[in-house]
Amino acid sequence: MKKDILTLSDLEPSDFKLLLDRAAELKSRHRKGILDRTLIGKSVGLIFDKPSTRTRISFEAAAIQLGAVPIFISSGDTQMARNEPIEDTARVLSRYLDGVAFRTFSQDLIEQFAASSDIPVINALTDKYHPCQVLSDLLTVIENKGSLKGLKVAWIGDGNNMAHSWINAAAALGFTLTLACPKAYAPDKKILAQALEKNSSISVTTDPLEATRYADVINTDVWASMGQEDEQAKRQKAFKAYQVNSLLLDVADKDAIVMHCLPAHRGEEITADVLDGPRSVVWDQAENKMHMHKAILDILLSA
Ligand code: CP
Ligand code: NVA
Repeated sequence: MKKDILTLSDLEPSDFKLLLDRAAELKSRHRKGILDRTLIGKSVGLIFDKPSTRTRISFEAAAIQLGAVPIFISSGDTQMARNEPIEDTARVLSRYLDGVAFRTFSQDLIEQFAASSDIPVINALTDKYHPCQVLSDLLTVIENKGSLKGLKVAWIGDGNNMAHSWINAAAALGFTLTLACPKAYAPDKKILAQALEKNSSISVTTDPLEATRYADVINTDVWASMGQEDEQAKRQKAFKAYQVNSLLLDVADKDAIVMHCLPAHRGEEITADVLDGPRSVVWDQAENKMHMHKAILDILLSA
C-alpha cells in the first residue's frame, strides 16, 4: 500500500526511527561524496500554492541526488486554478509521477488529493501542519543532543502549523514539550487533546519564561504565517512579549540550542544576536531539510 506523510500523527515511532536513521546515513554518505541513485527513472511532482525557498529547492536537490527528476508545478499555471476537481488532478498526476510533495493552504485539500492519488503524497506545509520540517528538525536536535530522550523542548510564539507538528512529534516520541503562546493564538485544542492521550508532558502556557526555563531546545517561528499577511500589525502587538532574545535564553539550559525553520524576521520573533549567535543551529537545520527529504523520497518512493 502507498504511504503518505500528511501529518506526523500518521507515523509510528518506528517510522520516525527509520526516517531519522536513513536521513543521517544519507547525509554522512553525501558528505563522503558517495552517490545514492536509488530512484533512477522516477519523477516527483512538487505542487506549490505558496512561496518556498527551502522546501522546494531541498526537495528538488534531494530528488536529483537520488537520480529522480523533480517537476515543479505552480498550481496557478495548472487547471487547478480553473477549478478542475482536486480528485481529477490527483488521478491524472498518479499516471505520470511516482510521488508528489504538495504545499497548500487547507489540510482538507491535501487529504482529498491523497485520497484520490495512487502515489505517495507528502505534505510540504499546510496551514495546519509542517511535518517534513519537524522531521528534519528532529534530525538536527539528535545531531546536537545525541538523542531525544529526556529532552525539554520549548516552543515560543504562534500555536501554528509548526507548533502542531511539534505536538504530534512529542506525542509519538515522548519528549517534554512546553509551548508558550498568547491566549488567542494557542494551538488547536483537538490536536493537543489527542497528543496528551499519548504524552502527558506536553503543556501550553502563556509565559515564555516558564516554557524556556531549563529547556534544551528553543524553537520559534514567524508571528504571521503565509496567508496571514494582513494580520501582521495585529500579530506584532499580540506577540510582542514572545521574542526569543538573550534575556529569555538566560533561563534555558546553558547548552540549549535555538531553532527557527526560517524565513526569520530579525527584531520580531527572534533577535539578530540570537539568530546569528553561537546557540543558533538554523543553518544546519536548513541543510538537514535536504537530507530528510532524501530519506522521505527514498523510503516512500522505493517501497
Ligand atoms: N522552512 C521552510 O519551509 O521554508 P520555505 O518556506 O522557504 O520552504
Ligand atoms: N509558519 C510558517 C512556516 C514557514 C516555513 C508559515 O506557515 O508561513
